[in-house]
Amino acid sequence: ARPVRRCGASLASNYSQTSEIVHLDWENLGFGLVQTDYMYIAKCGQDGKFCKGELVPFGPIALNPSSGVLNYGQGLFEGLKAYRKPDESILLFRPEENALRMQTGAERMCMPAPSVEQFVDAVKQTVLANKRWVPPTGKGSLYIRPLLMGSGAVLGLAPAPEYTFIIFVSPVGNYFKEGLAPINLIVEDKFHRATPGGTGCVKTIGNYASVLMAQKIAKEQGYSDVLYLDAVHKKYLEEVSSCNIFVVKGNVISTPAIKGTILPGITRKSIIDVAVSKGFQVEERLVSVDELLDADEVFCTGTAVVVSPVGSITYQGKRVEYGHQGVGVVSQLLYTSLTSLQMGQTEDWMGWTMQL
Ligand code: COI
Repeated sequence: ARPVRRCGASLASNYSQTSEIVHLDWENLGFGLVQTDYMYIAKCGQDGKFCKGELVPFGPIALNPSSGVLNYGQGLFEGLKAYRKPDESILLFRPEENALRMQTGAERMCMPAPSVEQFVDAVKQTVLANKRWVPPTGKGSLYIRPLLMGSGAVLGLAPAPEYTFIIFVSPVGNYFKEGLAPINLIVEDKFHRATPGGTGCVKTIGNYASVLMAQKIAKEQGYSDVLYLDAVHKKYLEEVSSCNIFVVKGNVISTPAIKGTILPGITRKSIIDVAVSKGFQVEERLVSVDELLDADEVFCTGTAVVVSPVGSITYQGKRVEYGHQGVGVVSQLLYTSLTSLQMGQTEDWMGWTMQL
């Protein structure tokens, strides 16, 4: 195990708070930041070792204007959720997967990453310190946002000399303003999210900044979000700005294969396993945009969006509709199977949850 350096006194054992759930309008949460009590912070110097992190009151951080993250986008983020069970215990969903994905992304971005143990321990500490912000059962979840950034100063283009690992949390409800109703997508044929050899397969902050323009235009036109095509053939589905995509035809569920330009979603991977366990045939392959024309259902997956049914997709001016604006049976089945497991409403037959 890596030796850990202590940055300061940890507040983990002496933070003060009541355990009573905060009063919020839980019915209308949406996906906006609600500031909570504490955040976790750990730094890593040139020796590549992270110090033992600490919980500090949530608030602004000081960054050198010359930091790697501000100047050259050397940063990554993760997203995972915690749910409150009726017995008041808290469930985390596959936090080690986020830790491992952060490590893969950090390697690509020339950054050191916390160990899986430190990552998971930090997530647990942050959630427990903010326990009163975890929504009541059935009213949403606590979204956990780990960040890893080059916080040290650079001027010439180079990896930063210091890194900061932060975790903050926010109670959230549905990601799309449509709630659980089907969303309307437009296929983007001018802008691309990722190119072969680029960073599309890691959760670097720049991937998300680069889709804002297409998303803004799409929203102005009344669409919920943008579906990207591959940059080489402009023919194969990649992903939506913030989530992966699945196409259902009969008993076969297809999704673009992970091949360097697509984010390997943890919800994507979980839905594949759930679908297989329910008897569906799942194909990870090149999925042509033409297949949208005769699909029975289309849905998106992601930590934030969970499983979001797609009601229509517009491509080159042509609109295809699915499920008569209702939720398709396959999307509904997979949504229910996954969320009941995440919320502890059914037995965790996959061994994916971690109880706090
Ligand atoms: C997530 O689903 O957790 C993400 O990171 C997507 C983000 C754009 C909200």
